[in-house]
Amino acid sequence: MTTITTAPLAPLLDRLFQEADAASQATIPSLAALSPDEHQRLMRSKTDYLDFYGQLKDLPLAVSRETGKLLYMLARSSKARTIVEFGTSFGLSTLYLAAALRDNGGGRVITSEFEPSKVARARHNLVAGGLVDLVEIREGDALQTLRTDLPDTVDLLLLDGAKSLYPEILSLVESRLRPGAFVVADNADYSPEYLAYVRSPDHGYVSTPFGEDVELSMRIG
Ligand SMILES: C[S@@+](CC[C@H](N)C(=O)[O-])C[C@H]1O[C@@H](n2cnc3c(N)ncnc32)[C@H](O)[C@@H]1O
Repeated sequence: MTTITTAPLAPLLDRLFQEADAASQATIPSLAALSPDEHQRLMRSKTDYLDFYGQLKDLPLAVSRETGKLLYMLARSSKARTIVEFGTSFGLSTLYLAAALRDNGGGRVITSEFEPSKVARARHNLVAGGLVDLVEIREGDALQTLRTDLPDTVDLLLLDGAKSLYPEILSLVESRLRPGAFVVADNADYSPEYLAYVRSPDHGYVSTPFGEDVELSMRIG
């Protein structure tokens, strides 16, 4: 028996993923009108991310179910106690991470989201999943909120906010990553700079693409 396979979390995840599957960027007129090139540009921009994600504030943009389970497994197998997440949205990935902490015996997920309505929805979902006591949601731009007051040691980092900021957010957390810590970056193809960094043998990671969307890296140095 695990927290992700039993009530209240299992039926909650089923419902939230059904809602996520039904949601689409095509329902937002300003985004539906974007050309593929402009969409690519916004996904990679280091300056327009607040406006871009502001337009996406009503969409969950969640990790896949497979990535959610991967997060749970990595956090369990590494006996994680401290986890940092960039990009909370409605909290689906946070639910998996917090469930792993519950099953590991406790700990803290520090997660970051600048959109106030998303913070409220994530908190609501964490309460419904019985996991809110394990999560600190930092509201605001993660470039600021993850700059201070991080735990001395971080066991797992999930990067799932604005893709262009992955290198900057990693640099805020990197000195805290313990040897063996995992860094999971969703849709990292939008940040070639990030991929070049973690794949270079000079920077202290072993890194590989994993599944359809993920770059999975392990801190070695
Ligand atoms: C892909 S969604 C996260 C999905 C979430 N991890 C899940 O699986 O449910 C990305 C989220 O990051 C937030 N975001 C983007 N850039 C951010 C930043 N610089 N600081 C804080 N939040 C940010 C967006 O508002 C959006 O809700």
